Amino acid sequence: MISAEKIPNNVDLGSDRRLQRALERWQPKFIDWWKEMGPDGFQDHHRVWLRTAISADSRGWAHFEYVTMPEYRWGIFMSEPEKDRKIGFGDFMGKPAWQEVPGEFRNPLRRLIVTQGDTEPASVEQQRLLGQCCPSIYDLRNLFQVNVEEGRHLWAMVYLLHSHFGRDGRDEGDALLERRSGNEDKPRILSTFNEPVTNWLDFFMFTMFTDRDGKFQLLALAESGFDPLSRTTRFMLTEEAHHMFVGESGIGRVIQRCCDLLKEMGGVSEDVRKMGGIDLPTIQKHLNLWVSLSIDLFGGEISSNAANFFANGLKGRVYEYRYDEHLAKEGIYELPVCENGRMSIEEVPTRNAMNEIHRDGYLADCEKGVTRWNKILERNGLSDRLYLPHRRFNRKIGIYAGHHFDPKGNPLTEEEWIAGCDEWLPSPEDKEYIESLQVEPIYEPDKMANWIAAPKKGIDGKPINFEYVRVEA
Ligand SMILES: [Fe+2]
Ligand SMILES: [Fe+2]
Repeated sequence: MISAEKIPNNVDLGSDRRLQRALERWQPKFIDWWKEMGPDGFQDHHRVWLRTAISADSRGWAHFEYVTMPEYRWGIFMSEPEKDRKIGFGDFMGKPAWQEVPGEFRNPLRRLIVTQGDTEPASVEQQRLLGQCCPSIYDLRNLFQVNVEEGRHLWAMVYLLHSHFGRDGRDEGDALLERRSGNEDKPRILSTFNEPVTNWLDFFMFTMFTDRDGKFQLLALAESGFDPLSRTTRFMLTEEAHHMFVGESGIGRVIQRCCDLLKEMGGVSEDVRKMGGIDLPTIQKHLNLWVSLSIDLFGGEISSNAANFFANGLKGRVYEYRYDEHLAKEGIYELPVCENGRMSIEEVPTRNAMNEIHRDGYLADCEKGVTRWNKILERNGLSDRLYLPHRRFNRKIGIYAGHHFDPKGNPLTEEEWIAGCDEWLPSPEDKEYIESLQVEPIYEPDKMANWIAAPKKGIDGKPINFEYVRVEA
C-alpha cells in the first residue's frame, strides 16, 4: 500500500481509493523501469543532494536532502486552482474551464498528454550513461536532478491518465514504461527523443534547447481549457527552469574554459584542442544539431491538428494573454516555402500556423541565450560569435524536410549539402574528440574536468566543492 506520505501531493490522493490502487499497481513498474533505464551505475550506493517538490507554494515548494535515487519521493502536484477559471481562447472562449474530460475531445486530449508524458522517461533513457564520464560531482548532481524531475513529470502525466481516462489511461501509463529511446521495435514517440545523448556537450545542448522546447509545450498546455492539465503543466514549469539553467550555464562554462585556454596559449588563432579544450566551431556544430532537432518537435508548419487543438480549447498559444484577440480566426501567416530550390511565400490561416507561431517564440527565447553566450566571448576579448542556425537548416519534419539548406537558410543542392555537412554538424572526428575528453569520470569534490570552467556558485547555497554525490560504503 502506498501512502499519501510516500507520495508528496496536493491532489488529495489519500481520499481517492481507486486512484491510489491504480498508482499502487503502476509504481513498482516505474521503479523497475528506473532501475533498468535510469542513471547507469548510480542506483543504490550513491546518495545525491537533490531537490524534492513538497508543495505547490511558490515560496517553499521544494527541499534538499541526500537521497538514493530509487528512493526519491516522486510527488504529484498541481498549481493552485484559479477560481472560476474560463477557457481563454478558441471556439469555447469564455466558457468555464473543464474539470472533467469533455467526451468529444477525449482522444485528442489523451494523445496530447501521452505525447508530452513520453518525452519525460525518454530523456532519462537518453542520458543514462552520462554519469560515467561526468566533469565534476557538481555536474553529476545536476544531471541527476534533471533525471529525477523528468521522472516526476512522468508521474504528473500518469496521474492525469489514471484519474481521467479510466482503463485506457492505465494502459497508456503502462505503455509509457515500455517504449525505449532509440529502440527500433518500440521507440519513443517523437524522433528527437530517440537521438543518442552520449557526451556532456550533447547533454548541455539538450537541456538548453530540447528542455526549452519542453518549456514551450508546457506553456501552451498551461493555457488548456482542461483545467487539470493546465494546473499540472504550470507546476512542471517551476522545475523546467533549472533544466535550462543546467544547459545554458554548462555551455557558458565550456565557452569560458575555451577562452581561458586560449589566453594561456597566448593567442586567439590557436587550436584550443591542443590544450584539451573544446573549440568554438565544435560548439557551434553541436548548437546547430540540437537547435534543428529541437525545432522539429514543434511539428509541421501547416497543421490541421494544431488548428483543431486551438479551436477546441485544448492547447493555446504561449502567453495567450499577451495577444489582443484569442479566436485567431482571421489573419494569415506568411510562410516561406521551397519549391524546386526557389523560395516563395504561402499564406496560411493563423490557426493552421500555430506550430510555426510557437516556433517563432521559441527561437526568440533561444536567441537571448546565445546573446548571453556571446557576451562571454566579448568579455574575454574574442571576436568570434555563436549564432542560431536558420529554422530551415537540417530539418527532418515539416515543409523543409527533404530539402537542403545551409545554416543561414540558403537552399543547397544535394552535393553542396554533402560537401558542407561536416562543417555544420558534428562529424565522427568531432564526436571522437569530445568523447576522448570524457573517458574518466571526475568524482573528487575539488576537481573539474579540463574542458569546462568551474561554475560561479554551488547549488542551494552550498560551496562549489560540496560533496553533492556521496558513495555509501
Ligand atoms: Fe520534463
Ligand atoms: Fe526538463
